[in-house]
Amino acid sequence: MLDFDPETFGALNADDYDALHDPGTTEESVALIAELAGKGRILELAIGTGRMALPLAKRGFAISGIEGSAAMVEKLREKPGGADIPVVIGDMADCAIDGDFEFAFLVFNTLFNLTSQDAQVRCFRHVADRLVPGGGFLVETFVPDFSGYHDNQSMRTTQIGFKSLWFEAKMHDPTRQVIQFQRVRITEGGTKLVPLVMRYAWPQEMDLMAELGGLMLEHRWGGWKREPFTPESRMHVSLYRKPAD
Ligand SMILES: C[S@@+](CC[C@H](N)C(=O)[O-])C[C@H]1O[C@@H](n2cnc3c(N)ncnc32)[C@H](O)[C@@H]1O
Repeated sequence: MLDFDPETFGALNADDYDALHDPGTTEESVALIAELAGKGRILELAIGTGRMALPLAKRGFAISGIEGSAAMVEKLREKPGGADIPVVIGDMADCAIDGDFEFAFLVFNTLFNLTSQDAQVRCFRHVADRLVPGGGFLVETFVPDFSGYHDNQSMRTTQIGFKSLWFEAKMHDPTRQVIQFQRVRITEGGTKLVPLVMRYAWPQEMDLMAELGGLMLEHRWGGWKREPFTPESRMHVSLYRKPAD
């Protein structure tokens, strides 16, 4: 399996993260989190270059982050307001940050960047430890879909130009729920390989992992505008709650 640690994603993607990783949902996700978060401290796991944290800080929220990659945080620091957001460099599975938070979130499929079930369970548990009683934890991930796979593999062209070709190859290991990606960008300048590994979890497995950590599912939506979660939903936004004392 591809060998990924908390720094690997940033080492491969920090330079062009903002240009190439726009999910197109930032405004509505910031709006929903602003509605749900209350007035206390917020923690973003895997804060990255601040796509979510900067607009939330601009709205007046006291937001802190954990991030595995110093290279991603450097990009955050270069942006207006980016130097003012407290960030701990570390593994989100350990959530080693001081203080209590009223709300935490982990978006854009990033739970799946933890490449084992054990690390994902630890992440839920450690987030629960950091939340005040009654605090919320919001997670956004895709719903696994293997309809485009054949023999546990898939190949998809992502961009074609006169002098360029981008494509994405994936291999799926259902025994470990792991997908290995290789994103290939061929241009006149050469070939760039940007690998990725993700350990997916089904929504109900996530609920069990949350429960092991002491969090209960409160809502599950099929989108950031609180769309219902249905068998057709390709992603979900799930809100977990730590019981009030
Ligand atoms: C898809 S990006 C999401 C960044 C940001 N939350 C956003 O929504 O734009 C994934 C982020 O997770 C970080 N990351 C990956 N594994 C990590 C880990 N084990 N601990 C902390 N951060 C991690 C990467 O460095 C990257 O910044």
